Amino acid sequence: MTNLLNTTTSPLSNKSQADCKNCMSKPTILAPSDTPVRLLKPIELAKDGFQVAHFDAISGDKFQSIQQAEYASCKPGKNAKNKLARKTRWGAYIRDTFSWQDRSTYSLSAELNPEEGGAIRQFEQLDNAFLHHPVTEKLLRTVFHAWDFEKSSEEQLYQVQLSAIRYEPTIETPAWPSPVAPHQDLVDGAIAVLHRTENIVGGLSRIYGLDKSPLVQMDLRIGDILFVRDAEVLHQVTPLMLEPGENWSAGKPAYRDVLLIRFQPVGR
Ligand SMILES: [Fe+2]
Repeated sequence: MTNLLNTTTSPLSNKSQADCKNCMSKPTILAPSDTPVRLLKPIELAKDGFQVAHFDAISGDKFQSIQQAEYASCKPGKNAKNKLARKTRWGAYIRDTFSWQDRSTYSLSAELNPEEGGAIRQFEQLDNAFLHHPVTEKLLRTVFHAWDFEKSSEEQLYQVQLSAIRYEPTIETPAWPSPVAPHQDLVDGAIAVLHRTENIVGGLSRIYGLDKSPLVQMDLRIGDILFVRDAEVLHQVTPLMLEPGENWSAGKPAYRDVLLIRFQPVGR
């Protein structure tokens, strides 16, 4: 896999950002001196099918304590073969306002996720306190505006789907992403890294062309957001293992917390 050179300076396409009343914290494109993501050329979401941004507010102490409390109660889904601890929530976004629904089921076709074979899985729902936290809402608005949809939320209703995942390997068992092979999700998505501890190896994000040619591998840090245009590229996350080291003792947890964020226009 490649560890590419140079960095991006190309801004996210964001024509409606100026219209967003609440977008005080728009994502910062990674600075050349401050990124593990090294690319051979500038990348643009619209042209290249993926983009990386950084959202500083995720690292703030107050948000980190809310986030840690929320993810501590993630559990494996009912009827799910993959045992990652998760929570989900479905909602609507219109007129710059989020409203959250009671819906705990989720399924993908067997073709898209052979491991789960089209099963209807049931997950705990993300709590309102986390969803309505100002940093969470800013993060969601930031992701929405990065997609540069044709219509603003003043003119169009959008469905929002959130999936919180805690990858927590133990000394005996790796944490397996689902699916583990390069794949598409049938919907554009953004993955934000909300937390990661020491003593983790793996969890690398990889992007491939549709012919499975490798394009880039990145080790996302807390606050990084990877945007993926699903029709343009394949994506993959590598399995995570606990790496015992000087700072690890038996029983000490090690994990990586991510939030998958998806927006789709309703009725298109
Ligand atoms: Fe995926």
